[in-house]
Amino acid sequence: MDRSPILDEARLPVDSGRRAVLRTGLGAAVAAVLGVPFGGCAVAQVRGGPMLGFRSVPPSRADRVIVPDGYAARVLCRWGEPVGVPGSMPPLTDDASSSAADQAVQSGMHHDGMHYFAIPGADPNQRGVLAINHEYTDEGLLHRDGHAELTAEKVRKSQHAVGVSIVEVERSGDAWRVVRPSRYARRIHAATPMRIAGPCAGNPIMRTPADPTGRASLGTLNNCAHGVTPWGTYLTCEENFQNYFGNGDEKNADHRRAGIGKRSRYGWERFDDRFDLAKHPNEANRFGWVVEIDPLDPTSTPVKRTALGRWSHEVALTHVAKDGRVVVYMGDDRRNEHIYKFVSRYRYTGGAPHPATLDEGTLYVGRFDAGGRGVWLPLVHGQGPLTAANGFADQAEVQVKARLAGAAVGATPMDRPEWLSLHAATGDVYVTLTNNSDRGKPGMPGAGGANPRADNVFGHILRWREDGGDHTSLSFAWEVFLLGGDPALADANKRGNVNGDAFGSPDGLWFDPRGVLWIQTDISTNLVGEATGDYANLGNNVMLACDPSTREVRRFLTGPRKCEITGVIMTPDLRAMFVNIQHPGETSSEFSDPKAVDRLSTWPDGPGRRPRSATIVITRDDGGVIGG
Ligand code: FEO
Ligand code: CA
Ligand code: CA
Repeated sequence: MDRSPILDEARLPVDSGRRAVLRTGLGAAVAAVLGVPFGGCAVAQVRGGPMLGFRSVPPSRADRVIVPDGYAARVLCRWGEPVGVPGSMPPLTDDASSSAADQAVQSGMHHDGMHYFAIPGADPNQRGVLAINHEYTDEGLLHRDGHAELTAEKVRKSQHAVGVSIVEVERSGDAWRVVRPSRYARRIHAATPMRIAGPCAGNPIMRTPADPTGRASLGTLNNCAHGVTPWGTYLTCEENFQNYFGNGDEKNADHRRAGIGKRSRYGWERFDDRFDLAKHPNEANRFGWVVEIDPLDPTSTPVKRTALGRWSHEVALTHVAKDGRVVVYMGDDRRNEHIYKFVSRYRYTGGAPHPATLDEGTLYVGRFDAGGRGVWLPLVHGQGPLTAANGFADQAEVQVKARLAGAAVGATPMDRPEWLSLHAATGDVYVTLTNNSDRGKPGMPGAGGANPRADNVFGHILRWREDGGDHTSLSFAWEVFLLGGDPALADANKRGNVNGDAFGSPDGLWFDPRGVLWIQTDISTNLVGEATGDYANLGNNVMLACDPSTREVRRFLTGPRKCEITGVIMTPDLRAMFVNIQHPGETSSEFSDPKAVDRLSTWPDGPGRRPRSATIVITRDDGGVIGG
């Protein structure tokens, strides 16, 4: 079977054998056009006809989801609903009075990355399993009386509201519903037992009093975006882990780089010692990883894959290279951090992978040079500056301190890498660089090359092509694909080069199997929907569709007030699209005021109700293909 980079395997559901990846005839048709510089008209040659078949929706400040005429968007799974664990389905409570135990079997908060998996023996267009990330919590919404008067029970509830929900969903007439109870239903959260694998497993820097082996840990948190392996497992990415630890050591270079301070954002360390770094200094080393989950086995133990490095992981785009080695592209969503790729030692030939496929290999970091060329620099202990004398005692320390290692070898500081997606027709890898208002400021990296704008408040989308079309290559060509912006602004630096609807702060990014590039925005809470400022014309956060051959961008969906749009996947027939609406009603203060939870949004349940992150499902009234 041809494994050339012609199909976005990582984003497709798997078949009923579930370890073999669905493939389409499209691959063979487009293989002939590989080598066309940056796509050109490659996609147009194989699809015939216009790619975007809907009328753009205007910017909105309404407190609802708006989709084009002829489409419907329905709520599928809210924070606080039971996920469907048999025998344990406490219902949603309007007043946030659910207990910590309830929350452990209810949908988490702040839905983010997501994938749809086929179920063996079931029609995947009618029934499947959604794995949904929950990024963080709004403690003012989560608890009836907010974050003040923190208790051990509140900390446990908060710990249970992050992580991942596994829910079975099925089509029901024109709509979809969560199947309750379901044998697949599961919550994975900050207290779920995990296994630690890869070069850090067992290393002294991973050991704690509760885990003297350094091979077992509790929990995953701040689960932002995701990835999918060719063998049908889910990868959840731990992003801003620094917000959960107290008593960081300002002399510790890794703590400083991570932004771990004295006081955590959530206060867990006050009731759970393991988040107090004065007592358990190694616990922070056990977060900031990519975690592999079997979405169809609720008894399976999630695995932290330390070969994939530690930082604020956003996404893990997985692809099988020509020679069968597995490549994982990853970004670090923090201002002036890096883009990475892992290349496995073992080849994937279908079926079950070698057990160490994501544990043995080489981690590289990207250097994007001026002039449109770039190289992947290995992060290998003993090579170049990655020595004990420079603070890297062994390979495990290189993995844990990957940011410092990347900087040491000369990686390019980027404008906050968010999602990555692979264009099946060309093999090009696209990345959203959401924004970076620090660029060009004194003491900060200057503008130029792959990060061309100082004070980059609108962000951009970059793409690269590996030399020879080989994803294991150590060199590549890059170009800026789109500069976000608003053409109506007086400042030429902020107008962008968008052909079609203006947008900024791109975050979620996904090529559907037709080759449409879906772009989701995360304009920051203090700017989004406001009547003044750089984003005054753009309204609430949105999802757009882009034809990569013409670069035309069209607004497909506008979200409710003060939300972010993130997470997108479709059924294989492309007739149902799942999208996440995260943090409607978010305030610019640390947490919502528990006495005024409905101040900025009451989506999705309406007046008087607290806002809730939720998965929605979008269908066409005529049953047609979404976006076509
Ligand atoms: Fe969680 Fe970088 O978005
Ligand atoms: Ca994101
Ligand atoms: Ca974001």
